Amino acid sequence: MTASTPATQDILVHAEAGVTTITFNRADKKNSITEAMYAAMADALAAARDDAAVRVVVFQGDMAIFSAGNDIADFLRQGAQGGGAAAPDAQAPVWRFLQALAEFPKPLVAAVCGPAVGIGTTLLLHCDLVYAGDNAAFSLPFVNLGLCPEAASSLLLPQLMGYHRAAEALLLGEPFLAEAALEVGLVNRVVPPSECNLLAQAQARKLAAKPLSALVETKRLMKAGQATQIRERMREEGASFARLMAGPAAREAFTAFMDKRHPDFSRC
Ligand code: COA
Repeated sequence: MTASTPATQDILVHAEAGVTTITFNRADKKNSITEAMYAAMADALAAARDDAAVRVVVFQGDMAIFSAGNDIADFLRQGAQGGGAAAPDAQAPVWRFLQALAEFPKPLVAAVCGPAVGIGTTLLLHCDLVYAGDNAAFSLPFVNLGLCPEAASSLLLPQLMGYHRAAEALLLGEPFLAEAALEVGLVNRVVPPSECNLLAQAQARKLAAKPLSALVETKRLMKAGQATQIRERMREEGASFARLMAGPAAREAFTAFMDKRHPDFSRC
């Protein structure tokens, strides 16, 4: 059964047996995420939150790619318009998605194979269970794009892995692999890519068979101490991100990516 038909085919939403599955479906662009895709995911999360029949949401890509992060052509366009789309504007699709994600009351599960770049990794910080294929590669190249972290990752990543490992991930922006993600606690288990989505679905079904009220209350209690801090950090990051996105370093990084050349930051 399909839960609702999103306005874009680049996101698939499927509901079955109490589990809503959100699938990135833009393989030709490595599942990079456009504004329309953020809007579709925000709508899917809002619908899943409000539907008593939905108990769990799963994010997945395919065996080769989770997500290459924000669509860089969209970044380029938003930067040229002053970077407003990443600012804490309640109506901006990315902001609607981030808020819905951070405040989602029911369990969130993710299955990650291949690259998980930028928001492809930071969204995992808001998931409750994360399963990875042994080909997963996590990266946070915000600095390399002239940007700063988002999704409260500047708060949550140092907490999760310790300051120095987070600094390596966020300042250098180099990928870290599935085993490293397992070691720091970003993922629950590493499996062959062919088993990853199946494992996530099986775990989601287990959760869906449990009493929803107890799941929701347990998740709320585990996160209670931090909810306000996360909201405030996301706002602070959003304001900085919007400012940087309109700046010369980001413009150079986005243009270089589109032109398939190395960026030149010597004047940024
Ligand atoms: N935004 C827009 N297009 C993207 C994209 C992104 N974030 N990531 C990949 N693409 C596009 C490429 O431009 C290319 O398009 P083309 O076929 O029209 O030339 C296509 O997807 C395939 O990408 P390619 O780089 O050739 O694939 P790869 O397997 O060699 O590398 C990645 C995969 C994910 C490692 C690499 O694409 C990448 O680093 N992407 C950018 C990630 C990024 O910086 N995201 C922003 C995070 S904040």
